[in-house]
Amino acid sequence: MKVRPMQDSDLDVVVELEKTVFPDPWSRISFEYELKSNPYSLPLILEHMGEIAGYAIIWRIFEEFHIANIAVHPNLQGRKMGSYFLRHILSLKENCSYAILEVRESNQRAIHLYENFGFNIIMKRTRYYRNGETALVMQKIFSKEND
Ligand SMILES: CC(C)(COP(=O)(O)OP(=O)(O)OC[C@H]1O[C@@H](n2cnc3c(N)ncnc32)[C@H](O)[C@@H]1OP(=O)(O)O)[C@@H](O)C(=O)NCCC(=O)NCCS
Repeated sequence: MKVRPMQDSDLDVVVELEKTVFPDPWSRISFEYELKSNPYSLPLILEHMGEIAGYAIIWRIFEEFHIANIAVHPNLQGRKMGSYFLRHILSLKENCSYAILEVRESNQRAIHLYENFGFNIIMKRTRYYRNGETALVMQKIFSKEND
């Protein structure tokens, strides 16, 4: 497995994957914005046997390391690829002081993954998602001990 920067040529696969894993998928235009225009964005691809196994969009904005989007291919979920990917992602924090993300309250697998990596629920955003679901805001504070 390896992690590499996302490229324009990955977009067809990423956009299709996004539609299969999320009820409110990001549009192709959103991914293009992240790739081409957002100076704070770090779009990443997880590769397994030369194929796209997952992707992530990270915003590194001053002290904040925001995990805006992360997914593993449905056929490959539950095989620790998400854990491998998140470990790699967190190693890119540079001088950020905390990582933060939003997750659907019903998304137990993702919540479990984030808790494994030391994220805590710091807030709830009621009716945050289009279907009315609540978002949990989870944060991991970086310190010398948990680097
Ligand atoms: C969330 C996601 C990235 C995790 O990737 P993954 O490769 O499936 O994760 P892993 O195999 O590393 O498993 C992570 C943990 O979840 C646990 N887990 C697996 N299925 C679970 C379930 N149904 N309920 C609770 N925990 C579960 C695993 O056991 C593992 O914990 P452990 O290491 O303590 O055993 C992936 O499932 C995914 O892409 N989901 C759809 C998109 C999504 O929800 N993204 C997150 C949005 S915030």
